[in-house]
Amino acid sequence: MNTTHMYVNPHANANHHQSAITVAGYRLKQKLGSGSFASVYKAIKVKYSSPDSETETETDADSINYNNSLPEIVAIKRIDRSSNKITKKVLENLYLEISILETYRHPNIVCLHQAHKSNEHFDLILEYCAGGDLQGLIRTRKSGGLSEPLTRRLMRGLTAGLAFLASQNLIHRDIKPQNLLLTGPLPLDELEDPARTEEEEQARRVENFPSSMFHLKLADFGFARHLQKASLADTLCGTPLYMAPEILQDRRYV
Ligand SMILES: Nc1ncnc2c1ncn2[C@@H]1O[C@H](COP(=O)(O)OP(=O)(O)O)[C@@H](O)[C@H]1O
Ligand SMILES: [Mg+2]
Repeated sequence: MNTTHMYVNPHANANHHQSAITVAGYRLKQKLGSGSFASVYKAIKVKYSSPDSETETETDADSINYNNSLPEIVAIKRIDRSSNKITKKVLENLYLEISILETYRHPNIVCLHQAHKSNEHFDLILEYCAGGDLQGLIRTRKSGGLSEPLTRRLMRGLTAGLAFLASQNLIHRDIKPQNLLLTGPLPLDELEDPARTEEEEQARRVENFPSSMFHLKLADFGFARHLQKASLADTLCGTPLYMAPEILQDRRYV
């Protein structure tokens, strides 16, 4: 693994009160989602000039040296190292996820700013996607689904991301709505997809997220790997409901 961005921070979890947990100069806020091994939190950069700055730990002061250029708000994907789910295989996948995200950058792939390792956790400091995941978008639409124009727009983003991965001989292997993120709330020019509740629709109007900034991003590279040209991956993995028929039939990727 490329360790140049991996900071070992033994004090990162010194404060066990969730709302006061600080990782690499970021304070963890609400949980954005969770999967089998990780929990993802919204996190805000600690302000050193704020009145409570005296309460910051030494760790926070150290971290200011390496997060100066990072955004105010990020998403932190946290993996508990002590969990018995963290097998050797899971660790290998995590290192691969980090190295792939560190190496490849694309507008339709979530950006990894840094990866951290403390005694208790691995923390992936990710670009924050304020629109949440595609499953959330689908669930909050009045119609219970997405219109064709919006679907086309999102699929263009998905295919651009997948085409880039294919050009780099990478396979994702866990494409599903929960792993596709949105950079912001649905822009107002998407007229055919109102939210289920009037409050959400009102929030969307207030936010008025710029259409030019609304993108879909592939995330969760936990099953991703390199695939040599003309070879086949023969590990059966993914999420059953979203697997291609040929994978469920135990055939290999082509
Ligand atoms: N960068 C992000 N911005 C906003 N929400 C995110 C971000 N990354 C993950 N999430 C949310 O957290 C959930 C779990 O993250 P994911 O990377 O898929 O973890 P897992 O490997 O445990 O499935 C996602 O389905 C999504 O809802
Ligand atoms: Mg996931």
